[in-house]
Amino acid sequence: MNWSDLEWLRSLSSMPIIIKGIQTSEDARLCTGYGVEGLVVSNHGGHALDRTSGTIQMLPEIVEAVGDRAEVYIDGGVRRGSDVLKCLALGAKAVFIGRPIFGRCQWAVRAV
Ligand SMILES: Cc1cc2nc3c(=O)[nH]c(=O)nc-3n(C[C@H](O)[C@H](O)[C@H](O)COP(=O)(O)O)c2cc1C
Repeated sequence: MNWSDLEWLRSLSSMPIIIKGIQTSEDARLCTGYGVEGLVVSNHGGHALDRTSGTIQMLPEIVEAVGDRAEVYIDGGVRRGSDVLKCLALGAKAVFIGRPIFGRCQWAVRAV
């Protein structure tokens, strides 16, 4: 896949497009240039590539790069309510979880 596939995807449907796996402000700007409605700051749980940055570290610069042109979401390492609050405070519109679903889930995540 490459960036031009977004144009093809857009031609198929008027549904919102959300891109997952954005890790830099440069890629975030490319996303908004292609008119996506949202993007997920994610390193896919850290198991796709070794030594990626923590997603919460990348979040502020990506939020700043995107501005109000798209919604920014995040996942990766969110384990408790205070993690959710930090992500929302840093500009995420919503927070997702992966692996906690497979364990004992003691709390719920709901974006405000
Ligand atoms: C078993 C497993 C399989 C996954 N497979 C994919 C995948 O196929 N594509 C993808 O984008 N992310 C995949 N992910 C990453 C999750 O979608 C998500 O980004 C990540 O689990 C969030 O981090 P967390 O588990 O710390 O909450 C996978 C995660 C796990 C644990």
